[in-house]
Amino acid sequence: MNDQVTKAETAEILRLAEQCLEIEGEFVELGCYRGDTSVLLGKLLAKSSSNSTNCGKTVEKLCKTTASLCKKSPEFVDKMCKSSKNLCKKTLNPVDNRCKTSGKRLWIYDSFAGLPEKTREDSSGAGQNFQAGELLVTKREVVDKIRRAGLRNVIIKKAWFDELTDQDLPTEISFAFLDGDLYESIKTSLKLVAPRLSPQGIMIVHDYNNPELPGSARAVDEFLHQHSEYRMSVHYSLAIISQCKSF
Ligand SMILES: C[S@@+](CC[C@H](N)C(=O)[O-])C[C@H]1O[C@@H](n2cnc3c(N)ncnc32)[C@H](O)[C@@H]1O
Repeated sequence: MNDQVTKAETAEILRLAEQCLEIEGEFVELGCYRGDTSVLLGKLLAKSSSNSTNCGKTVEKLCKTTASLCKKSPEFVDKMCKSSKNLCKKTLNPVDNRCKTSGKRLWIYDSFAGLPEKTREDSSGAGQNFQAGELLVTKREVVDKIRRAGLRNVIIKKAWFDELTDQDLPTEISFAFLDGDLYESIKTSLKLVAPRLSPQGIMIVHDYNNPELPGSARAVDEFLHQHSEYRMSVHYSLAIISQCKSF
């Protein structure tokens, strides 16, 4: 049970993540907290990876059987064999392409020390929640959760977002869930992810229209103002951002 993201939002996040499975690049989540959404994203990646590998193996096996059949009866089935070899070539190519995008990993980040201090941009008349140190979970708790889920495709990094370096992030990102709640956290997340986003990739920022966390929308609006090549649509409290040419 996730108390941070609603069921409808989770369904939307997974739907969009699924669209990114065949795009080059890894998945990231900045602000993983207890790892509830991380487990779902990790499972989606694991499932797609095993599907494409199995599918590739089946086609390959079928092609090998056909080839050995062709060797055994060359006179009669020469013509038939030629066309089935062509078919194998055609069928294997898309499978190979899928394999290139399988084996993706999910990289998740958190301070594991709770939220940082709010800044002026986070001030809201809608409540005094989300103070520094709130939402604290240990890295150990999340490592255990990922292990219990049987996932081996998740990389967990403990850091404040503004301390992350180039080596801490994948070079290419196809899907990003940015859920750091506060202005500076979202601003830094966008700064880190956008230059690595694949042309067809998607970034989702949580809390876009949450009156308790106005810093999230401020950071997104500023980003869009400075980067006219991106556009946004809003579903629930999710700001879904991608490059204009990908629509
Ligand atoms: C709302 S929770 C994330 C919920 C999670 N995405 C989910 O779906 O369950 C926000 C998390 O972001 C982390 N966070 C916020 N700002 C951060 C920063 N600047 N650096 C590192 N972690 C940060 C907090 O520690 C907290 O765990």
